[in-house]
Amino acid sequence: MTKKTIIITGGAGFIGSHVIRLFVNKYPEYKIINLDALTYAGNLENLKDITGAANYGFEKVNIVNAPEVNAVFAKHQPDGIIHLAAESHVDRSITSPLDFVYTNVVGTVNLLNAAKELWKDNYEGKCFHHVSTDEVYGALGTTGFFTEETKYDPHSPYSASKAASDHFVYAYADTYGLPIVLTNCSNNYGPNHFPEKLIPLMIHNVINNKPLPVYGDGKYTRDWLYVIDHARAIDTVFHNGKKGEKYNVGGFNEWQNIDLVHLLCTQMDEKLGREPGTSAKLITFVKDRPGHDLRYAIDATKINTELGWSPSVTFEEGLSKTIDWYLQNTEWLEHVTNGSYQAYYESQYSNSI
Ligand code: NAD
Ligand code: DAU
Repeated sequence: MTKKTIIITGGAGFIGSHVIRLFVNKYPEYKIINLDALTYAGNLENLKDITGAANYGFEKVNIVNAPEVNAVFAKHQPDGIIHLAAESHVDRSITSPLDFVYTNVVGTVNLLNAAKELWKDNYEGKCFHHVSTDEVYGALGTTGFFTEETKYDPHSPYSASKAASDHFVYAYADTYGLPIVLTNCSNNYGPNHFPEKLIPLMIHNVINNKPLPVYGDGKYTRDWLYVIDHARAIDTVFHNGKKGEKYNVGGFNEWQNIDLVHLLCTQMDEKLGREPGTSAKLITFVKDRPGHDLRYAIDATKINTELGWSPSVTFEEGLSKTIDWYLQNTEWLEHVTNGSYQAYYESQYSNSI
């Protein structure tokens, strides 16, 4: 049994909470520290089932604040970092790009510095795992896939900030020999997803009989992966990935937004006992997102053939489980859509719906 301390940043967010849960339950011998600033997207309710676990701890820290980051590293002496903390929503990056530079770029460099300083005498058994996105590769046309060799070509302030953070991670490996791995994943969905993103926003609006805002012509395409499969991929790469390398993670599961929204409406009509076709009547085409990337599609062959990871849940199954979770967790949904969510929703959609 190897005793390890792992700091997981952004553990109160959507994906981070699933990663924390997997590690806390699967590795009782590890100490798991959740380092999170609890922004609008961070919510400790996401972790209420494991908060009392003996191998779990929480530190409220903003990664932009270097002295705070260094103090937590000195206190816990981590062997591994799994870095998920980020500003993650593309639409918010269009209105507030600097927030994305601070957290995603400066915050990542602060963590890299803290790891380099702590580990400088011995990198043996250490790992800095940077969790990134397929959006760093830019946009595809109607064919082709992003591979690990695809050149970076980010378009939104969000993807530019994530691309910059990836480059800093490689720079620390090349310059200081820091032991790193990266994962670049496609669109996640599942329980605890903040309802600013397409799937939970549509679920929330169907429940409340509100318009379903589809950007542009709805033909934009994304590759969707169930969040627990992403957490499994992070576990696999953190433990078995080759240092210095990156792994693309995706579901081989492409959907045009409009088809996805129709499937979601069909499943929700059934679950809510509504006449077929009721929810689809709420679909409203609205002003497009500026610089909207047409299509993302991940080639996940490398992680599959080298490390044996593959998705475990089909999209129809995962979407159904996700909708069920939202219907059973109305209190969670009410809490996160109170207060500042209303102001965000107004400013994002009031001119278009
Ligand atoms: P999220 O927005 O749900 O959660 C982000 C978390 O980071 C929150 O808990 C928030 O409180 C925390 N955080 C934000 N700024 C911070 C700061 N300055 N200091 C400390 N904590 C801070 O994000 P998510 O969707 O769970 O994404 C997690 C990571 O995975 C991100 O790095 C994102 O780029 C990446 N990613 C997301 C997706 C996706 O589909 N959601 C896909 C691929 C990669
Ligand atoms: O590809 C991985 C990325 O996926 C992650 O790195 C990001 O953190 C994550 O937010 C996600 O980015 P997207 O921009 O693809 O996700 P979002 O849910 O915002 O949008 C998905 C698609 O749906 C996109 O084509 C825009 C569209 N959309 C979105 C919203 C919020 C709509 O048509 N209407 C909407 O109201």
